[in-house]
Amino acid sequence: MIGDPVEHSISPAMQNASFRKLGLDYIYLPFRVAKENVGAAIAGMRALNMRGLNVTIPHKLAVIPYLDRVDDLAEKIGAVNTIVNDNGVLTGYNTDSAGFLRALIETGVDPKGKNVVVVGAGGAARGIVFALIGNSAKLTVVNRTLTRAEELARRAREVFGRAPRVSALSRPDLAALVKEADIVVNTTNVGMHPAEGESPVPCELLRPGLTVYDIVYNPIKTRLLRDAEAAGAKTIGGVDMLVWQGALAFEKWTGHEALVEVMKEEAIRQLRRG
Ligand code: ATR
Repeated sequence: MIGDPVEHSISPAMQNASFRKLGLDYIYLPFRVAKENVGAAIAGMRALNMRGLNVTIPHKLAVIPYLDRVDDLAEKIGAVNTIVNDNGVLTGYNTDSAGFLRALIETGVDPKGKNVVVVGAGGAARGIVFALIGNSAKLTVVNRTLTRAEELARRAREVFGRAPRVSALSRPDLAALVKEADIVVNTTNVGMHPAEGESPVPCELLRPGLTVYDIVYNPIKTRLLRDAEAAGAKTIGGVDMLVWQGALAFEKWTGHEALVEVMKEEAIRQLRRG
């Protein structure tokens, strides 16, 4: 993987655990790459015949010009997190958005036709919003800064010919939207360590029948997820998305089905270790 920083990434441990368990002759290593060296790093990948790369912040956009092909959804999102090297032909994918969706579907929730409220309109929201629109969810993007949600909606209209509704993150608006929703997704960093007491959605709005998906994975169980559980809602945590984006990348590189449970156990072990 390349990124900056990469020191605290749990992906190496997660991927290597699955390689080991399957007896596959691969190794996953993190490389800290500065912005100005992204092109050289991709050239190095070709020269060294690396089978694949994960790309993390801040290089997900910057790698694109150096690839031979980019998968359709990754192109629409404008971010690549996985590269596969097929005999010198480099293809970019976005398994963050695919992993988000897969974790949802694995929980038995098909977003098609569902009312979904996405909280947040930042970098993480874009792939999620596009994945959900691509799967015919009825979307509303709620953000503290309304103009940013509007920008994301505009981009969605350009790309898909359809835009989500948008709303500001005000208490009455959120209450009305969550009441109508089947699924609520938090893509903001509210509730992330060290602000573990915070939640983007007041607990009184949560109820049985609702699916609450928080992409924050540190802590493993956020305040939002704990509130949702207590309210009888179905919950999906950021660890699931993290594991599935890794599992989908693993499958593209190796052609083997990933050991999702092994990867999840390892991810949780690493996160608990801190
Ligand atoms: P990321 O790439 O992790 O999505 P980002 O692009 O900085 O990071 O976006 C962070 C998101 O969290 C934004 O939607 C941000 O809202 P604004 O657009 O209004 O900044 C949201 N966010 C961060 N802190 C927040 C807070 N305390 N309350 C509500 N939303 C917050």
